[in-house]
Amino acid sequence: MDDIQKMSIEFGCEPANESFARVAVAAYAARLNPTVEEISDIKTAVSEAVTNSIIHGYYGRKDGRIIVECTIKEDKLTVSVSDRGVGIEDIDKAMEPMYTTRPELERSGMGFVFMEAFMDEVTVESTAGEGTIVKMSRRITSDEQINNDTCMAVGYN
Ligand SMILES: Nc1ncnc2c1ncn2[C@@H]1O[C@H](COP(=O)(O)OP(=O)(O)OP(=O)(O)O)[C@@H](O)[C@H]1O
Ligand SMILES: [Mg+2]
Repeated sequence: MDDIQKMSIEFGCEPANESFARVAVAAYAARLNPTVEEISDIKTAVSEAVTNSIIHGYYGRKDGRIIVECTIKEDKLTVSVSDRGVGIEDIDKAMEPMYTTRPELERSGMGFVFMEAFMDEVTVESTAGEGTIVKMSRRITSDEQINNDTCMAVGYN
């Protein structure tokens, strides 16, 4: 059964959970023997998506929950980050470089740009008032010997 590899975590919207989420996904992805660079790219993308749920989706709230789900099929990692926050009115606009609705928080509007740069595919589903789901996937090189060594070196397996 494919679903046997599936991993999901749910956590609250406090900012400290952003680093927890990216490390959890990196640890899960380690079974594909990624390179250090691949791990770093995945962590950056997860970090951007989870930060968005925290600071935009649940702005001003303490009770929001975020769900991160991961699957692996062959050499492809898929990660989805979902929240039940405010949602996005205009997804195309939100994904434009340097578009931000929170300039006062010194956001630069580059989160989606980074997700798209570091992952192979990024799709966003969102409904205003209901929440947002960001799905991202990335193929992993899986060069076992080299990657196992690098993973060992950074403590992922
Ligand atoms: N989970 C979300 N819920 C609600 N709005 C979101 C969510 N994710 C993104 N957005 C909206 O999309 C815009 C663009 O997001 P993006 O991550 O590209 O930039 P940013 O978060 O504003 O700035 P940066 O990521 O550079 O700090 C945000 O300003 C926000 O309006
Ligand atoms: Mg962002």
